[in-house]
Amino acid sequence: MDGIGMETAVDPIALFGAWLKDARASEPNDATAVALATATRDGAPSVRMVLMKQVDQRGFSFYTNAESQKGLELAENPHAAMCFHWKSLRRQVRITGTVTELPGAEADDYFHSRSRLSQLGALASQQSRVLASRELLVARVEKLEEVFPGEVPRPDYWRGYVLRPERIEFWKDGAGRLHDRILFSRSEDSWRKERLFP
Ligand SMILES: Cc1cc2nc3c(=O)[nH]c(=O)nc-3n(C[C@H](O)[C@H](O)[C@H](O)COP(=O)(O)O)c2cc1C
Repeated sequence: MDGIGMETAVDPIALFGAWLKDARASEPNDATAVALATATRDGAPSVRMVLMKQVDQRGFSFYTNAESQKGLELAENPHAAMCFHWKSLRRQVRITGTVTELPGAEADDYFHSRSRLSQLGALASQQSRVLASRELLVARVEKLEEVFPGEVPRPDYWRGYVLRPERIEFWKDGAGRLHDRILFSRSEDSWRKERLFP
């Protein structure tokens, strides 16, 4: 495990990649599931799970409905946080930073890589608004199946986002509660690395 060592790592994105690889090998499902916290303009927080779809030097990407609660909160306050917890590894990664939208072409590509049913579902869902009954949702999908027998267009509200990390903290379970915590903080073009008390 731990292909890149927590002790020697200088690039938190590379270390995250190594930990995600371990998680994919040991978690029963959804190793990329992550708690995403957003907040209103005046700081009232909310949190929910999303699937992190890509990690690269830009940051941590996910897709959602821009008109959902999280989408509306991100539009008025770009500050956000993520927390991965891989129970099978007893490891946690916490990230804070600011969120921007991914280019539309990237969202198009990912949208069309998903199953037809997922695409229709995204089109049918007015995410986070009140739904009178499940039947109504099923009927909306059936209707859309007829309207779009071929390619399903990506709805404008279905967007990709990327969390640009300012801080990334790696936490690893240790014997006798002597856990390891390593914090990377962005400073200019590099990362400052510090150990924290557990
Ligand atoms: C494991 C898991 C993964 C999820 N992945 C996503 C996702 O990638 N995008 C998304 O919009 N919702 C995802 N959801 C649903 C969200 O948790 C949430 O219910 C929905 O996005 C509405 O959130 P909001 O009202 O806070 O905006 C996922 C839920 C779970 C349990």
